Amino acid sequence: MSSFTQNTHLQGIILAAGTSSRFKTGRTKLVEKICGREMILYVTDTLVKLNIPVYMVVGFQRDVVEEVVKEHYLKKVTFIHQEEQKGTGHAIYCTQDTWVADNILIMNGDMPLVNTDIIEKLYKKHIENSATITFATAHHCDPEGMYGRVIEANESIQIIEAQDFSGDVTETCCVNAGIYIIKKDFLQKAIHQLTTENNAQEWYITDLIKIASDNKEKVQTLSVPFDRIRGVNNFKELWAVEQIKKSEIIQHWMSSGVRFSIAHNVHIDWDVTIGAGTFIGSGVQLFKGTRIGKDCIINGFSLLTSTIVGDRSTIKEHTIIEHSQLEQEVCVGPFSYVHGNSVLERKAFVGSFVEVNRSRIGIGTKAKHLSYLGDTHAENNVTIGAGTIICNYDGARKHVTKVKSGVLLGGNTTVVAPVTIGEDSIIAAGSTITEDVPANALAIARARQHTKEDYATQIREKQKKSDSTEKFFLGATSKTSFDELQ
Ligand code: UD1
Ligand code: CA
Repeated sequence: MSSFTQNTHLQGIILAAGTSSRFKTGRTKLVEKICGREMILYVTDTLVKLNIPVYMVVGFQRDVVEEVVKEHYLKKVTFIHQEEQKGTGHAIYCTQDTWVADNILIMNGDMPLVNTDIIEKLYKKHIENSATITFATAHHCDPEGMYGRVIEANESIQIIEAQDFSGDVTETCCVNAGIYIIKKDFLQKAIHQLTTENNAQEWYITDLIKIASDNKEKVQTLSVPFDRIRGVNNFKELWAVEQIKKSEIIQHWMSSGVRFSIAHNVHIDWDVTIGAGTFIGSGVQLFKGTRIGKDCIINGFSLLTSTIVGDRSTIKEHTIIEHSQLEQEVCVGPFSYVHGNSVLERKAFVGSFVEVNRSRIGIGTKAKHLSYLGDTHAENNVTIGAGTIICNYDGARKHVTKVKSGVLLGGNTTVVAPVTIGEDSIIAAGSTITEDVPANALAIARARQHTKEDYATQIREKQKKSDSTEKFFLGATSKTSFDELQ
């Protein structure tokens, strides 16, 4: 990187105005995500890291592209508008007024795997050879005809685009990567010599190579691994690139001490972090800046988005956690859903089939089975029985329920917010709580049970005598039987 710091001899231009027609989505491909990051941001990041002025040609859906780039690299990128998309040569033609540096680095916007190392090597070669153009090439037979072919013969060099190439593609396995460093003085003259005399009737930036070569200007190439320079022109290529990125990310976490059970079916976004000693199960997906602590267990098919998981926590199978924070030694799942900026404090236990929404669950508090906790502030060591439902919505507004420390909510309790349940109180199972409960109280809010001894036998005898089949089948739950019971 040192050769680039305070560099005044190089500026970068990213081509990002194309129509992305091969994607067939009608949208610009440049904001399609690869491991959770918009494609255009990979190239932008590489050039910004080089500490050189960065320009970006935008056109097709320019607002969408600009918005994404500005969100992350405000003031670091200057946008230039290519009104009509007439090809890569025309895109660079539109940037003429910005050419101030001695050398212009031009890159396609659709090559997310390029790193600073390649650009540094390219620039070094360019300077050391006092070249007019230096561009990157790769060995790839390209049976699908997606790349320009680099043809060298009798000391001349040119790039022939796939659709203009009539030879045997499998014999010409040197392709153009789409990264060029060009001397400004040459570019200023040669840009006017581009024509649209080709099958696509576009201005090709790649024709500059032939123009330089024909004029005996020095053209250098740098051969780089194909996997580093793969372009993304359709969903097939996007998938291939994402596999590479994914495997880089997973291998990085493996070398940092993370154990994966079946690494190839795990998805981890580029900005996720995982602590050493953590286990990641099969089919786990970690999205958008999720941060997993040390020595955690994230079991199979759990999905975590923008979530912080404290050290030594366990997420059991099929759990979804979004925009929430788990402190240390928390346990969630299986089959649970935690979301809405919920906070689960140390040693909280949210078991199976529990939904926690916009809630705070205190230290050591447990909700082990089948509950909905919405807008709930449960303090420490609360026991939330199976089937507890916190009713936070009155049809118009949401209300908060406060459950103080040490409370026991019996199974199948319904709490109608807003309500405060005092410290160490006990709520009898099956209660519907609509009023505040003071500390240390027992609240029972359910119909009293009536038990009539031997009454079941009596009902059965009556049923036997009855000649009505219907009545017989309705049995003890029939209206008649119940009325007699009251
Ligand atoms: C280009 C090269 C090809 C090379 C390949 C490497 C040309 C003519 N061909 O082909 O030799 O092997 O990249 O991946 O350059 N763009 C604009 N304005 C336009 C057209 C395109 O800004 O009018 C942008 C696109 O958004 C894209 C980049 O330029 O980011 C490259 O365009 P694309 O159509 O993908 O070129 P390829 O056909 O891949
Ligand atoms: Ca391309």
